[in-house]
Amino acid sequence: MRNDSTYSLPNLVDPDDLDNNTFSGPSMQDVLAARMHRRYVLKGGVGAISMATLGTLGLSACGGGGGGSTAPAAPAEPALAFKAVNKSILDKVTVPEGYTATVLYATGDSIDASVSDYKNDGTDSNFAKRAGDHHDGMHFFGLSATGTPDNSSNDRALLVLNHENISGTVAYMHVNGQTNIAAASAAGRPEAEAIKEIEAHGVSIIEVRKTAGKYGYVKASTFNRRITGSTLMELSGPARGSAFTKTKFSTDGTQTRGTINNCGNGYTPWGTYLAAEENWAGYFFRGDDNAVRTQKDKSALLRNGIRPNAAGFAHQRWASVVPADATSTDFSRWDCTAVAANAADGTGDFRNAPNTFGYIVEIDPYNPSSVPTKRTALGRRANEGAWPSLAVVGRPLAFYMGCDSRGEYIYKFVSKKLWVAADANRADRMAVGAEYMDEGTIYAAKFNDNGTGTWTKLDLSNPLVAAGVPVSTQNPEGYTFADLADICVNTRLAAGAAGATRMDRPEWTAVNPKNGEIYITCTENPDRGNNTISNNNIPNPDVDAANPRYWLDGKGASSQGPARPVQTGNVNGHIVRIRETGDTAAAETFSWDIFLFGAQANADAGGDNVNWQQNVNLSKLSELNDLSKPDGCWFSKASGILWIETDDNTFTDQSNAMLLAAIPGKQGDGGVRTVVNKPNGSPNAAVTADKTVTTYAGRAMTDATFKRFLTAPLGAEVTGVAESPDGKVLFVNIQHPGENTSATNFGLGVFESNWPGNAGGVTAYGPGGATARPRSATIVITKNDGGIIGL
Ligand code: FEO
Ligand code: CA
Ligand code: CA
Ligand code: CA
Repeated sequence: MRNDSTYSLPNLVDPDDLDNNTFSGPSMQDVLAARMHRRYVLKGGVGAISMATLGTLGLSACGGGGGGSTAPAAPAEPALAFKAVNKSILDKVTVPEGYTATVLYATGDSIDASVSDYKNDGTDSNFAKRAGDHHDGMHFFGLSATGTPDNSSNDRALLVLNHENISGTVAYMHVNGQTNIAAASAAGRPEAEAIKEIEAHGVSIIEVRKTAGKYGYVKASTFNRRITGSTLMELSGPARGSAFTKTKFSTDGTQTRGTINNCGNGYTPWGTYLAAEENWAGYFFRGDDNAVRTQKDKSALLRNGIRPNAAGFAHQRWASVVPADATSTDFSRWDCTAVAANAADGTGDFRNAPNTFGYIVEIDPYNPSSVPTKRTALGRRANEGAWPSLAVVGRPLAFYMGCDSRGEYIYKFVSKKLWVAADANRADRMAVGAEYMDEGTIYAAKFNDNGTGTWTKLDLSNPLVAAGVPVSTQNPEGYTFADLADICVNTRLAAGAAGATRMDRPEWTAVNPKNGEIYITCTENPDRGNNTISNNNIPNPDVDAANPRYWLDGKGASSQGPARPVQTGNVNGHIVRIRETGDTAAAETFSWDIFLFGAQANADAGGDNVNWQQNVNLSKLSELNDLSKPDGCWFSKASGILWIETDDNTFTDQSNAMLLAAIPGKQGDGGVRTVVNKPNGSPNAAVTADKTVTTYAGRAMTDATFKRFLTAPLGAEVTGVAESPDGKVLFVNIQHPGENTSATNFGLGVFESNWPGNAGGVTAYGPGGATARPRSATIVITKNDGGIIGL
């Protein structure tokens, strides 16, 4: 999701940019721990399991636990053979010489033989049978000739992708943009518009096939399916049937309707897809129900940014629709106001509806009639994805998850069940999911200053969690967890109580298939170092070892907005890398370093910054690989390349968003770095002295190990990546081209982008030509000589 509150309309504040974390950082936990006179003894990793079980995965025996310096023997590294592309501010997709990009599946495309082709003039409806908007996380599920799962199929597959959001500021899906969207509007949103918008969220499952050497989607396939903001969903795990999830729709708290704001993604070793619900909170309206809510309720809602009477925050205003069918709750369910006259358990209204969003949603793509299931055991947050650990027979599986908001945490879920290889081939895939994803343990990451880290357990066996959230201005009665269901619903509060480290907006997680190391993008944080101010009047964290930088950087005007001569905090983001102790997903400790520091190449040489600095371009980026705001990260199993995607709004005078290829190396392949942060880079004006931080950096990048592969059209973000198993076809999602078009220009038909109708770097796609309304799209990238992408 685009993150730029500066240029957003007041009623369209990007929820990614909000800070709802009321914890000031580990120091509060240290105080709490001292007060309790108890010691939470951290167990070491599960090192007892024979390393022989890892032999087939190419791992070498290694403790990996100390100081960021121990590491296994390096696997053979790939070599990037393509010529890097330059930065671009053109309205086109750019790929390297010798490569071709074509459009496969764009917003509005029909996935049903009976549904008309997309006219792209705002008149099209029935998005339950069309591609949704804002393509995001994506996965390739191979399909055999007989239509069964086949992990080796290169020519036929189900492509599954998220539709995170809609271009709300410009609403290309409506004739004249959104009606009655203003927060102050007394009138309700038109029902037909709201239906279209709800249907344009969710997930697409489409059959794709290679015919005559070229990939396309199969419009009439019986596998095609849209999962939308209305699709019936089961709740499973500890929160199912709990007091937290009872609503007027599901009085026993076992079901909910729809999935929304699916950003990053994941998959399972048994062949299901995982969609991650990110900024779900912003869709709910909450009236002034403070007199009705319990203090716990109020704390929980505030922690997720759902404030009473914050009219502007229910950004699509779906709750305002007055439906033709007066008995329908399709729209009133987005109003979570607790009404005094209704049952206190929530069964008379939708006060608990927000508790049915914020999960990892499991979907069986191979079974069009399967019911998507929200796996509450993995916890609730602004999910960016859930990437699985390597599956090792006899060991638990882990799923790694980021929570994308300023100062939020990194998590993993460890299954109770140990991996059984035969489960990969079972036909009852959702039942397998229940076995591995409904019982287990959630952990949050604490990064120590010495390059080690702790996975702190989020259940009542952890004394810090059992003690609950301490009393504070934000939580005047504190927050005491009743049971595991409470922790699974209010996972952010539990992670704070447990003393997890506040990170710079953790986005995607990726697991290196060669050695199991985990990469987590920390996309940016303009509040890093602003330890006096936050949205909730709680101090933001200062720089620390795992979030070591703030600096001052200028930006010129671009299609995204006017010049901004001063940007401070962590402007360009970084990527953290973790190696589990004992190379096991069950480990409770790890070692870490920072794989990559985002920066513009000339940052430390003056560049467009006010002062010379020495803390920015620590990865030695050049003009051929400099980047800002890494968001997605994804490993190719075929090539071993780590693909890094950006969603940028701070570097847009230099380049549109991009996709880069990196040789991953390994944790500990760099060394200790001393970072000197100059005071003019702090978002806190009271800071007047240098701030020195010691961190652990990955090895410096070179023009051979890190190359820009693709640049996106104007206003777009690069999101999901997937590949055919042979690595010869790369699918990439381009999200929200043209999203910065002003209302005035929309009225004039002047759009920031006209891609892909304008043939920008691709064969012209869809109606409209050079003046087309822009569309999110999945593109297919192939190498002209038929080789593996990137090599
Ligand atoms: Fe949807 Fe955090 O980007
Ligand atoms: Ca983002
Ligand atoms: Ca700059
Ligand atoms: Ca994202």
